[in-house]
Amino acid sequence: MGKALIVYASRSGETKRIADLIAEGIRIQGSEASVVDATKVKKVDGLEGYDAYIFGSATYHGEMMQAMKTMLFLGDKTGLEGKVGGSFGAFGWSGEAPGRIFDTMKNVLKMDMVNGPLMLKSALLGGGTEMAQGYGKDIAKKL
Ligand SMILES: Cc1cc2nc3c(=O)[nH]c(=O)nc-3n(C[C@H](O)[C@H](O)[C@H](O)COP(=O)(O)O)c2cc1C
Repeated sequence: MGKALIVYASRSGETKRIADLIAEGIRIQGSEASVVDATKVKKVDGLEGYDAYIFGSATYHGEMMQAMKTMLFLGDKTGLEGKVGGSFGAFGWSGEAPGRIFDTMKNVLKMDMVNGPLMLKSALLGGGTEMAQGYGKDIAKKL
C-alpha cells in the first residue's frame, strides 16, 4: 500500500492514455495513484508526499517534451532520493524520451527505479493495455 504520482507530457493524448493505464494497474494492486499533466506541476510542493513517481513523455524530434524537462529540474529540487521510480512514453520510431527520463531519475534524482522504461507505440495495439497496467502493478508491488 502506498501513494504514487504519475506525471505525463503528451501532445496528442497517447502518453496520457498510457499514464491512465499505469494508474489502473497501481489501483488494482490496492495502492493510490494520481495522474497529473506536467504543465500543471509548477512548484516543489506539487511533487512532495508520494512513495512512487512515474514520469512519462512522448518523443518529438528525438527529445522529451519541454514540460517534462522542466518537471525533472523541479524533481531535482524536491529530493526524491530512494523513492520508487518508473518512466514511460508513446513514440513513433526512435523513442528517446522514456530512456532519457529513466536515466535522469536513476542517475540524478537517485531513485529506486523499477525495470523499464515502458515504451509503447500505442496503448491500444499489441497488448499495450496489459503492458501499461502490468507496469503499474510492478511498481505497486514495491510499495
Ligand atoms: C512533428 C513530430 C515529430 C516526431 N518526432 C518523433 C521522434 O523523433 N521519434 C519518435 O519516436 N517519434 C516521434 N514522433 C511520434 C510521436 O512520438 C508519437 O506520435 C506519439 O504517439 C505521440 O505521443 P502523444 O500523443 O503522447 O503526444 C513525432 C511526431 C510528430 C508529429
